[in-house]
Amino acid sequence: MIQAIDHIGIAVRDLDASMQLYGTLFGVSDFHREEVTDQGVAIASFTLNGVRLELTAPLHDDTPIGKFLASRGEGIHHVAFRTDAIDADLQRLQDSGIRLINERPQPGAHDMLIAFLHPKSTGSVLMELCTPANDASHP
Ligand code: CO
Repeated sequence: MIQAIDHIGIAVRDLDASMQLYGTLFGVSDFHREEVTDQGVAIASFTLNGVRLELTAPLHDDTPIGKFLASRGEGIHHVAFRTDAIDADLQRLQDSGIRLINERPQPGAHDMLIAFLHPKSTGSVLMELCTPANDASHP
């Protein structure tokens, strides 16, 4: 079941410049840094009252986020919803006619399993479902 907004992904070109900007905006200095090679991204994230903001830069141009930046520029990339039953939710959505980008959850940042829904099915909002990877259903 989908429970909460987990994070908002923001596409940025330059992580260091963007951390400096968010430092100015929100006084953040304690960023979690991580590279997720499967997704081709480097992230810097921080949490505001339980919702994480994930600044996301491409590791190279030939990645989904690199292509997004090339065509749309910097900005909000996706909204991620936390679920406690990602497989069941993906199945339910697919059965309801929602197109999935990832039919199977993939490794994401913060030890999460993630799956994107196709924006053509979600009013052009790129949505991600995520769940902690140590969930018993994914040993
Ligand atoms: Co995400």
